[in-house]
Amino acid sequence: MSEERGRVALVTGATSGIGLAVSKALAERGHRVFICSRSAEDVTATVKRLREEGADVAGTSCDVGSPEQVPELVQAAVRQFGTIDVLVNNAGRSGGGVTADIPDSLWFDVINTNLNSVFLVTREVLNAGGMRHKDRGRIINIASTAGKQGVVLGAPYSASKHGVVGFTKALGNELARTGITVNAVCPGYVETPMAQRVRQGYAAAWDLEEDEVMAKFEAKIPLGRYSTPEEVAGLVGYLASDTAASITSQALNVCGGLGNF
Ligand SMILES: NC(=O)c1ccc[n+]([C@@H]2O[C@H](COP(=O)([O-])OP(=O)(O)OC[C@H]3O[C@@H](n4cnc5c(N)ncnc54)[C@H](OP(=O)(O)O)[C@@H]3O)[C@@H](O)[C@H]2O)c1
Repeated sequence: MSEERGRVALVTGATSGIGLAVSKALAERGHRVFICSRSAEDVTATVKRLREEGADVAGTSCDVGSPEQVPELVQAAVRQFGTIDVLVNNAGRSGGGVTADIPDSLWFDVINTNLNSVFLVTREVLNAGGMRHKDRGRIINIASTAGKQGVVLGAPYSASKHGVVGFTKALGNELARTGITVNAVCPGYVETPMAQRVRQGYAAAWDLEEDEVMAKFEAKIPLGRYSTPEEVAGLVGYLASDTAASITSQALNVCGGLGNF
């Protein structure tokens, strides 16, 4: 893994779930990792924990949907570690319901958090983060299998993740000759705090217990279980490597067979 020693990675939404596992995996492969989430307290605690495990990591609070805060995030990362070699746009939220009853505020926040943020952070990393002036770079967007198929009671989430997949394919083609690859990783069901909140939402909507919702979801997955954050992080680590140089503009599933498209 010496090729990655000292490379700089920026991971958004890294205090929990998939982003946390990705940060650990990239650090284990030798990257210096800059992280963020909206909670300064959680960022501080996560940085402390990862440093205790031997990672070269730092971070700051940032709402990735904020056009004002995103430049500050990228500046802080560059000040700390230098220009950015690997960007993982992971921060995201769930959100949905009966579409006719969805308020503007929910729709706008899901699209802003999951889709507008990917554009804002990517553009900033290409410019102030220095990536567009390098001959090698990696942009990895955590989308979802919901970015390839419609999810019942999840119209805003599905729409936002389809948008992330479309952005990935367009930018991947645009940058293909530059040495910068752009890919989406599409998890299916992954056991994280977000997955727990999603089960609670469906339990309320369907008038079921949470473990009944869990059983329904597991029955849909050919593998018979949720994926782990580490299994998603494994693919992200590979896509960040030099060996993955010819994989670009793709949306790759990590989903136990849930989506085979
Ligand atoms: N879990 C699944 O089954 C699953 C499946 C498919 C795709 N995904 C995608 O994977 C990604 C990670 O999900 P997860 O399950 O790991 O979720 P999670 O456990 O809820 O973690 C989300 C992380 O993102 C941060 N975050 C949320 N909104 C943010 C914002 N506006 N600005 C900056 N940071 C923000 C959270 O911290 P704060 O709240 O403190 O900001 C937290 O660190 C998301 O994009 C999600 O859509 C998850």
